[in-house]
Amino acid sequence: MKLILLGPPGAGKGTQAARIAAKYGIAHISTGDMLRAEIRKGSELGLKAKSTIDRGELVSDDVIIGMVKNRIEAPDCARGFLFDGFPRTVEQAEALEEITEIDRVIDIEVPFSRLVERISGRRMCPDCGAAHHVSRVDGGRCPDCGGALYQRDDDREETVKNRLSVYERKTAPLIEFYLQRGKLLEVNGDAPIDTVGAEIFGKLEE
Ligand code: AP5
Ligand code: MG
Repeated sequence: MKLILLGPPGAGKGTQAARIAAKYGIAHISTGDMLRAEIRKGSELGLKAKSTIDRGELVSDDVIIGMVKNRIEAPDCARGFLFDGFPRTVEQAEALEEITEIDRVIDIEVPFSRLVERISGRRMCPDCGAAHHVSRVDGGRCPDCGGALYQRDDDREETVKNRLSVYERKTAPLIEFYLQRGKLLEVNGDAPIDTVGAEIFGKLEE
């Protein structure tokens, strides 16, 4: 099973990806998480990517495609994988077609007016990787594992606005790209997390 989760920043890609990957036993591949891991390691790639990410711009297609090509060779991808945040440009989608065939693309739709609130309220767990909204956490600790929650550097309001505009210009055209290929499943992301999950599983199993 090879899937893509598409949707604007804050749509809930990471939240739903964790559930889908667990249910089907496939690898969850988030290019954003991979880049943040490089930044934490202090690698050359991480150092280069950090300022781009903090401005809300996209890292170059070549770097991302190289990273993904390597990642899907790993043993945990043998049963399949789920991309979260990749592809993000038509160039990336075309390169992916040369590498492997995707089964379904799940597009999580949320009105932009909701996204700024969601993202600026997001807190991340460094230990288990979960995202929680501030309104649902008590005392700055992860409700799942107790890790000390932090805010992503690119979750400040000004950067969030640029990320949304970059999404509209560069990533939204992929909806039409995958619609034309008969792979698109559209899901309403403006609903409780469990409801969104149920709609995704319902459509995948149709
Ligand atoms: P990336 O890490 O991919 O960020 P993003 O796409 O901007 O998406 P987010 O992670 O912000 O949102 P999400 O959809 O995962 O939402 P989440 O589940 O956390 O990329 C970061 C940067 O890396 C990019 O800007 C770029 O610079 C670079 N990059 C990455 N991939 C790249 C690529 N392929 N090419 C080039 N550059 C790349 O949920 C958000 C919040 O909402 C959470 O607090 C969550 O608890 C809450 N929430 C989730 N679902 C619901 C719901 N149904 N109702 C209410 N709240 C909800
Ligand atoms: Mg994410």
